[in-house]
Amino acid sequence: MKSTAIANSNTAMIKYWGKYDEKLILPMNSNISMTVDSQNTTTTVEFSKELKEDAVLINGKEQDGKPRERVSRHLDLIRNIAKIDLKAKVMSENNFPTAVGLASSASGFAALTLAACSAAGLELDKKQLSIISRQGSGSSCRSIYGGYVEWMKSEKSEDSYAVQIADENHLDIRDIAVVISTRKRKIPTREGMRLSMSTSPLYNARLKVVDESLKKVREAIKNKDFTTIGKTAEADCLMMHAVAMTTDPALIYWEPKTLEVMEKVYQWRDEGLECYFTIDTGANMHIFCLPGSADEIVKRVKEIPGIMDVFVSKPGGEAKLINNHLF
Ligand code: DP6
Repeated sequence: MKSTAIANSNTAMIKYWGKYDEKLILPMNSNISMTVDSQNTTTTVEFSKELKEDAVLINGKEQDGKPRERVSRHLDLIRNIAKIDLKAKVMSENNFPTAVGLASSASGFAALTLAACSAAGLELDKKQLSIISRQGSGSSCRSIYGGYVEWMKSEKSEDSYAVQIADENHLDIRDIAVVISTRKRKIPTREGMRLSMSTSPLYNARLKVVDESLKKVREAIKNKDFTTIGKTAEADCLMMHAVAMTTDPALIYWEPKTLEVMEKVYQWRDEGLECYFTIDTGANMHIFCLPGSADEIVKRVKEIPGIMDVFVSKPGGEAKLINNHLF
């Protein structure tokens, strides 16, 4: 009853921001991401009758409190489906430093879901895996698939899952993750989106336009139209941040350096170096570009004083089981 899985992280092009159902984690709007190949999580899960409680180790550190509870709750969901009552040991490693503030819950919960379901003896298809993963952390359901992925909104749990728009070989683009700050968010993402829904006067305005943006990005991915993907992703990012900023209390994730890099992106684009940015709940930025521009953009990003780190990703593959266990 032991399995190991590896899952890649993903970068949202059309953001998930707000839940229709908090417990089931059903999103208010469908959303689209690209699975990225350079940031991943490997997780080993073993169910055993020797254990009296779940043990959770992340990057070598024994977890307690909220992080352990969150993993345990996710295991409960899987134990329920598999009709088993055994506690588990979970060991998880990220191949990127967790402290840099890049998303780890997406790859983390996707790897946990796949490893735990397999260790529990469940044979599930990707749709079922994404439904389970979604309930651990919403964005993780997109990491079950490789390439370009849409998480469908629905008011019913069984209809809200991820689907692949195109695989990782369909369109080669680069996601340059620019690490600007490692400062921890004052308000967790989950709480932030809840507050936005109840207090931002712009929340519903974004919902009115997001379907159009989804349609544009979906079609642009199919047509390999990088310009439309980039433009639409950048506009949706600004829309999500407009909602965040007009939340009470205001959720301002950017730092001065974020704006500085944003300005550079506009400038480089004016000069003919095509690239677009997107930002999640932090000061860090992702820059999308075509493969031929990546080296030049990375060089220019590194010349900006104060940039802490840069990670370049291609579209990555699906979450998968591997034979090398972590323990
Ligand atoms: C801004 O998936 O981390 O990155 O479902 O509450 O665990 P929970 O939230 P999470 O939210 C990600 C929000 C985002 C946008 C996105 O990835 O689509």
